[in-house]
Amino acid sequence: MKKQYIHMGGQNMIVCVTGATSGYGKAILERFVSEGKRVIAIGRRQERLLALQRLYQDAVFPVPLDVCQAESVYKAFAGLPADWSDIQVLVNNAGLALGLGRAPDINLADWHTMIDTNIKALVTVTQAVLPGMVPEPGAYCQYGLHRRPLSLSGR
Ligand SMILES: NC(=O)c1ccc[n+]([C@@H]2O[C@H](COP(=O)([O-])OP(=O)(O)OC[C@H]3O[C@@H](n4cnc5c(N)ncnc54)[C@H](OP(=O)(O)O)[C@@H]3O)[C@@H](O)[C@H]2O)c1
Repeated sequence: MKKQYIHMGGQNMIVCVTGATSGYGKAILERFVSEGKRVIAIGRRQERLLALQRLYQDAVFPVPLDVCQAESVYKAFAGLPADWSDIQVLVNNAGLALGLGRAPDINLADWHTMIDTNIKALVTVTQAVLPGMVPEPGAYCQYGLHRRPLSLSGR
């Protein structure tokens, strides 16, 4: 991860990380927390989110959520407490890799799950977060896990 993604914003900067319960997302959360940022942690496995909150206390706000459930996504962001609602960085990391076999052999449901999670949910979460980010100078939105941002907002 490039340092320019990390060393931005003040100490009170609020970052939202989807898929924070394991892998890249958990590592990204831990990196932001280590730099004094506050992180909204999203994932379906509530016990893991609560473990992160126990570990990092006030620096982490757990939001148990299936990002594929659009209505729940909008409700969750609309219901954030006032002191957690000013999101400046969104890391759209939640996702998975399924159906990696030969195309004729794959289970179509696996591909549908990937499209629902890696593509449609990414757009849903972005749509839910972005309106609050745009007016903020320096607000930053990264679409997916890429070395270079594919889209910037509020700059
Ligand atoms: N590892 C690689 O080599 C690699 C390479 C390229 C791209 N990627 C992408 O990078 C991202 C992270 O990969 P990873 O290796 O760190 O995977 P991982 O350890 O399996 O973590 C995936 C995360 O996404 C969350 N997630 C999945 N579906 C979700 C849903 N419907 N709602 C909410 N959260 C959901 C999981 O949380 P819950 O299960 O708790 O919901 C988990 O925290 C994925 O999008 C993956 O496709 C990974």
